[in-house]
Amino acid sequence: MAPLEKRLAKLWDWCQPYPVVADIGAGQGRLARALANEGHRVFATEKTVKGWHELRQYTRNFDGIVPLLGDGLEPILDSDVVVDVAVVAGMGPKVIERILQQDASSHRVRAFMVQPMQGLFVLRRYLKTAAWFVRRADLVHERGRLYGMWWVVRNCDENSSPFSEWIPTEFLGSPWWPELIRQRIHDLDQKLRYQDARNELADEWQQERHSLLGMLR
Ligand SMILES: C[S@@+](CC[C@H](N)C(=O)[O-])C[C@H]1O[C@@H](n2cnc3c(N)ncnc32)[C@H](O)[C@@H]1O
Repeated sequence: MAPLEKRLAKLWDWCQPYPVVADIGAGQGRLARALANEGHRVFATEKTVKGWHELRQYTRNFDGIVPLLGDGLEPILDSDVVVDVAVVAGMGPKVIERILQQDASSHRVRAFMVQPMQGLFVLRRYLKTAAWFVRRADLVHERGRLYGMWWVVRNCDENSSPFSEWIPTEFLGSPWWPELIRQRIHDLDQKLRYQDARNELADEWQQERHSLLGMLR
């Protein structure tokens, strides 16, 4: 198998403590296969029949992988499968948010690793609002793009902390931190320039921009 992309390699690394992993929207099962090679049991899901057939093809030689068909967490929640963590990677922020919400009432999944392909701050805002706690967070730079990812848990303990308000301090240790802040300020400038006068978020954007500019001084 070709080496994993950096973002998947990071998720693979974070998954090491967890024997049973759900890989939601597993695609061709690249992460699932790499985890199965290390002895993890992986419930890998795909939403469409076509995607699921492809996933089955790519994972057919891996005893540790169970390919499931269904939307987001549904195939897990509809069964008596118990997973230690669910990885939701490579999708947009709103899809990831909807998948996390599928477990909002049952709380069957205690930890998630989420990695949006775009809209990093959109997903962060949701995670903060929904009171998730950050266990780990990291940025990777790949093919000219910056990707962020979070390992989040439902309960606060000595290994996790709440999301901070404007400044994404969970990424402070990353060498890509200054680039993240520059990109975010640029995005906020664009949003503020082209906003509708009635936009309710404009004040928040101003406040966030002000806080981030302070970090770069
Ligand atoms: C860009 S691929 C990412 C694959 C892999 N997770 C990765 O990060 O490389 C996104 C995959 O998620 C699947 N997907 C999108 N929405 C989904 C949902 N609601 N439930 C399950 N799978 C979904 C798509 O079919 C596609 O295979």
